[in-house]
Amino acid sequence: MATIRNLALSLLPVTESAARAASGWIGRGEKELGDGAAVDAMRAALAQVPMRGTVVIGEGEKDEAPMLYNGEHVGSGEGPEVDIAVDPVEGTSFLASGMAGSICVLAAAPKGSMFRPGPAFYMDKIVVPAPARGKIDPAAPLRDKLASLASALGKEVRDLRIFVLKKPRHEAMIREIQAAGATVRLQTDGDVSGGIMAALGVKVDAMMGVGGTPEGVITACAARAMGADMFAALAPQKPGEAEALRAAGLQAGQWLGRDDLVSSDDVLFVATGLTSGDILEGVSRSHYFVESESLVISGHDGILRRVQTHQRVS
Ligand code: FBP
Repeated sequence: MATIRNLALSLLPVTESAARAASGWIGRGEKELGDGAAVDAMRAALAQVPMRGTVVIGEGEKDEAPMLYNGEHVGSGEGPEVDIAVDPVEGTSFLASGMAGSICVLAAAPKGSMFRPGPAFYMDKIVVPAPARGKIDPAAPLRDKLASLASALGKEVRDLRIFVLKKPRHEAMIREIQAAGATVRLQTDGDVSGGIMAALGVKVDAMMGVGGTPEGVITACAARAMGADMFAALAPQKPGEAEALRAAGLQAGQWLGRDDLVSSDDVLFVATGLTSGDILEGVSRSHYFVESESLVISGHDGILRRVQTHQRVS
């Protein structure tokens, strides 16, 4: 039977081609043009994938950036029915300024299994590695969450490092983490990478704080594939966002579990490095090859593959 798990090798070229296309824009100060190049490459590559896909988590509305549209049909039109979540460039500012940490990313899951955030742009997120699954109460005070996390990981609170986006809205939370004795790992953008590091327990022990909803659902797919845990609660930040949530019947502040965000184990997460960062090497070019590095994480067997691709320059 055609299932999501069989699509891994077909979806890998989608993020690879987005990264190769956007790499020409690294450091040029043109984040929209770089993002647009990734979107166009992704759309063309998705057309080759043997699936009946629908983009349910696009990106762009929040920043009025180029985008793959929610509801857009993608794929060859044959094969399994698939929910697709995309972030053609995660970390557009890093791309524009040539800084570390931009990636091209997508997730796929069976039709109807991904959470639809509707008009919500922002959500509060908590990602922790597999040993802490089921051991954190997202509604508990931050100090208690840190204590539960430390105990689940067999660490002291002072040994915990928490990834947090460096944004004014997080200043109080950062102080609270530090006051509890733990440390922070701050980054101006890129909470998908932060979530992956947290889910793997690499370099950080958790990711916490408010970021984009597309990034949240994509991160949930990776967390589920790796047996990690995640919680999210809609957290409106933009003018009019709270009213739009109410009108759509969505409730801000209510914690959703990982399986509310993606309800199937047959999930795929694929990411290719654009500028070298914590989890992936970026695109590099020689006379003969364009090289890229990708992660392919498959939920049905819990396997994470790191793939290096050398494409001949024609
Ligand atoms: P872009 O690549 O769209 O710029 O998003 C980067 C990012 O930092 C995400 O990782 C994060 O979820 C979101 O933006 C946070 O949004 P904002 O910068 O508006 O607070």
